[in-house]
Amino acid sequence: MRKDNRIPEEVFAQTLRTLLAPVQPFLDDPSVADILINGPEDIYVERKGRLSKTKARFGSVDELMAAIKNIAQFVGKTIDELNPLMDARLPDGSRVQVTLPPTARKGPYVSIRRFSKNLLNVDALIQGGSLTPTAVYFLHSIVYMAKNLIVAGGTGSGKTTLLNILSGLIPEDQRIAVIEDATELQLQQPHVVPMESRPPDVEGRGSVSIRDLLRASLRMRPDRIVIGEIRSAESLDLIQAMTSGHGGAMSTVHASTPRDALRRLETMAMMAEEAMPLPALRAQIASGVNVIVHASRLEDGTRRVMEISEVEGELDANGHYVVHDLFVFQRNGHDADGKVRGRLRPTGRRPTFLEELEHYIGQFDASIFDDRDAR
Ligand SMILES: Nc1ncnc2c1ncn2[C@@H]1O[C@H](COP(=O)(O)OP(=O)(O)O)[C@@H](O)[C@H]1O
Ligand SMILES: [Mg+2]
Repeated sequence: MRKDNRIPEEVFAQTLRTLLAPVQPFLDDPSVADILINGPEDIYVERKGRLSKTKARFGSVDELMAAIKNIAQFVGKTIDELNPLMDARLPDGSRVQVTLPPTARKGPYVSIRRFSKNLLNVDALIQGGSLTPTAVYFLHSIVYMAKNLIVAGGTGSGKTTLLNILSGLIPEDQRIAVIEDATELQLQQPHVVPMESRPPDVEGRGSVSIRDLLRASLRMRPDRIVIGEIRSAESLDLIQAMTSGHGGAMSTVHASTPRDALRRLETMAMMAEEAMPLPALRAQIASGVNVIVHASRLEDGTRRVMEISEVEGELDANGHYVVHDLFVFQRNGHDADGKVRGRLRPTGRRPTFLEELEHYIGQFDASIFDDRDAR
């Protein structure tokens, strides 16, 4: 429900095309992932994981500011010296972050993450070496069983892409609640209920947080809950949902390893007002989170799954998580063109829930966990 004083979307889209003319070719180019404007004359784009500087330029700071003001007006936000930071979303779904001087030292910064209409699919990820057929077989099996999954990784590591693919493996007969800050996921199942959070308006009213939506969704009889990203106190609600019989929850967390993801979930859950003591929280996280898929963007620009790890349901005697890797990306030097060589390989460990897997999936092939090349 847009406020009345906002511009209709079509009109806005037209005006914005004119105002963003210098970078419009990149906005229209599906091979571009990010457009990074560091002041009017310093503009980069990312393609296939690599940044390159462009010749594009805005005529002046004022021209760039005109585009920024237009975006702010469209999303009903204020951007000025007092409010120099802004997140917004363009009509085509692209996400924008703006930072103004003097905080931004080189002029207004505008970082645009293009909305790619076709998120990559499983086949593309296998082709590109991010996943293997065996790993996909495993992931498919645990999604089917409604295990709780977390995708971990840095910014741009491919978390959302993986979440989209994993959520795509949810069976068609399930009712799926999808909760996001900005719509990125594209589930194709027939019974999907997507929800989007909303920031407060200029008077500070009407905000709906991921937390609010997650709580509401629990009362909507979901079979599955998919949350775009856990960034804050909603971590606590997610963990409680995971441990209270709402199996099959999945989300992403900004983290550098599977263990780091667990620590982040802890830290974020502690941000909730009703935070519980750490030992109790840890016990819940251990019992809630079943599997962590860790993605990374390597130095050659490729996105790879680095680990698929199981988190055991019980803490160890010292109150620590018991995490073991089932699949690990094994590096093997570089190709002549600088591309990282390697493969996501099974470690030989079997998940503690193997019996359950075999029970759920007729003729489950447990040999996928064997490291056949290991000597
Ligand atoms: N496995 C992959 N192979 C190739 N490109 C990928 C892969 N995963 C993601 N990308 C591309 O990388 C960019 C960032 O991916 P995204 O999933 O949004 O990352 P994150 O959610 O971690 O920030 C997107 O342009 C996406 O299309
Ligand atoms: Mg993301």
